[in-house]
Amino acid sequence: MIPVWAQVCYVVAAVCFILALKGLASPKSARRGNLLGAFGALLAVVVTFFAYDIDNLGWILLAVAVGAVPGALGARRVAMTAMPQLVALFNGVGGGAAALVAILELRHAELLSDGALVASAFTILIGSVSFAGSAVTFLKLQELMTGRPITFPGGPFVFGGVLVAALGLGVWTVATGSVTLAIILALVGLLAGVLLVLPVGGADVPIVISLLNAFTGLAVAAGGYVLENALLLVAGTLVGASGTILTRAMARAMGRSVSSILFGAFKGGSTAGGGEASDRPVRSAGPDDVAIMLAYARRVIVVPGYGLAVAQAQHTIRELVDLLEKRGVEVGYAIHPVAGRMPGHMNVLLAEANVPYEQLLEMDTANGQLRTADVALVVGANDVVNPAARTSPGSPIYGMPILDADHAGAIVFLKRSMRPGFAGIENELLFDPKTTLLFGDAKASLTALVTALKSL
Ligand code: TAP
Repeated sequence: MIPVWAQVCYVVAAVCFILALKGLASPKSARRGNLLGAFGALLAVVVTFFAYDIDNLGWILLAVAVGAVPGALGARRVAMTAMPQLVALFNGVGGGAAALVAILELRHAELLSDGALVASAFTILIGSVSFAGSAVTFLKLQELMTGRPITFPGGPFVFGGVLVAALGLGVWTVATGSVTLAIILALVGLLAGVLLVLPVGGADVPIVISLLNAFTGLAVAAGGYVLENALLLVAGTLVGASGTILTRAMARAMGRSVSSILFGAFKGGSTAGGGEASDRPVRSAGPDDVAIMLAYARRVIVVPGYGLAVAQAQHTIRELVDLLEKRGVEVGYAIHPVAGRMPGHMNVLLAEANVPYEQLLEMDTANGQLRTADVALVVGANDVVNPAARTSPGSPIYGMPILDADHAGAIVFLKRSMRPGFAGIENELLFDPKTTLLFGDAKASLTALVTALKSL
């Protein structure tokens, strides 16, 4: 039985988790929310050491160090653009840990209630699916394997067969409480995780990370039920619920359903990456000409994208916008929900440069303003302004809502080459007579624009 003081601490930790989620809802309070959540987790871990009679303390502390040291170092060193794969990795080990704990609990199967046995089998299966699926998403995003969907003949039937086998094994494990069966169930779960993620194309992988995150939450919640630990139950449920909501929100932003993301490739749908540069003629200009266009505009809408993050040009774009505003130009940033490589990527990037939150325009507002803007300044973005999403039913981004940069009076693209964006498809907007390209790394081009503006 957990002592009352420890239960009170667990309630405090659970409240911290809930307040952390609330804090994360706004960029202003996100840092505080994050710290609060981390404090809750630390409290829960420390209390656990004092609340139970713990054997093998040395081994446990060694395991904590083995997890904490690379975890902390990895999190500190990771580039912002590699954040999704780090999240995938952390999420995967969470699911794997939950599955291992549930397998170990089955050593005392005779002491477990029927409900706890069912919850154990559930944790083992879902935890292993999450572990293996997250590992594959990591490999895809880290480009250690192809980002394209991997399918093979009969794939859906193999996946269906594995699911049926997992279900049967799950029932058998519950009926017998056998650790050996539980291990086989975990192995089948690993196979299911791999088969689930292989057919998903690169652009959709982050959505699958979020889905697997929800899976891990459910596995942990069921583990909490087995261990009679209310905090695990609460924390797992929070992760499961928030992961599900995030998955749906991201899928909606991509104009897809979750099932088409998971199974679209079997029907020849989802694709990503690897497109070739086009050699059709385009209009390009130097920084001086572009600076004049911007300086004499009434309204400029900046469309930031992945290239802004790669170039780390967030401070330079802010400097440029400040200069334009001083000249009386009205400027806003149009934020597409999947611009960059992770949810909220542009918000985080621009917050780093202290861009006032009021200047960030959500898609609907931005599209309203783009209609009357003189210039849409597209900085390292591509797919999120590609009109193929509206017009080409065969395109991998068809149906995704886009920022209507093509409705502005003129469009300026800052990019290095004619290479396509993440979806690997040509962008007709680059060839539009209203479009001007300023070739070069976004930071170098923006710095040149700042210099040119200052000399006007
Ligand atoms: P992309 O379509 O990927 O386009 C990025 C553009 O930036 C490219 O055209 C590239 O052209 C340019 N670029 C790269 N490095 C640059 C640099 N140093 N300086 C200047 N330009 C540079 O980006 P987007 O418009 O932000 O769209 C995001 C895409 O990623 C969508 O397809 C989305 O579905 C997908 N995705 C989103 C997420 C989330 S959740 N945000 C996660 C994964 C994938 P050059 O090579 O010619 O410079």
